[in-house]
Amino acid sequence: MNAKITASGIALGAILLLAAGLAFGAPAPGMPDPVAGKVLAEKLCTNCHLIGGAEQKSANADVPSFPEIANQQAQTAGDIVAHIVLPKHPMPTIPLTRNELADFAAYIMSLRDRP
Ligand code: HEC
Repeated sequence: MNAKITASGIALGAILLLAAGLAFGAPAPGMPDPVAGKVLAEKLCTNCHLIGGAEQKSANADVPSFPEIANQQAQTAGDIVAHIVLPKHPMPTIPLTRNELADFAAYIMSLRDRP
């Protein structure tokens, strides 16, 4: 009996947390945030990469765009993080936190056309 009450209490708590997260439009704390990834990418990556939005005026033509990177076959968030942490020349090593890396990966994966 007690166990049942506790379990439904937890479920209710989870639903409330989810509802709160949806209401603010932000992911739960600690979850990768593609919007934060986009904001940071606009500052740090647009010298070279064409990123998602249409507002970007120029980028380096020899550098893969973020949508191209996202749509590579079998692309995963983990691969994207690995490529940022251990970049291939001429991409520079950019010091980033784990959260920032996860946000970039979430943002780039959000540009993927196919599931
Ligand atoms: C100085 C230019 C430059 C900047 C700034 C830069 N990149 Fe790159 N990036 C490159 C180049 C060039 C490549 C292609 C390297 C290669 O040949 O694979 C690349 C490749 C990548 C790849 C791997 C693509 C693949 O083929 O899988 C990812 C992911 C990536 N960049 C993410 C980022 C992110 C995120 C940022 C911003 C934090 C960033 N880059 C900033 C030049 C840059």
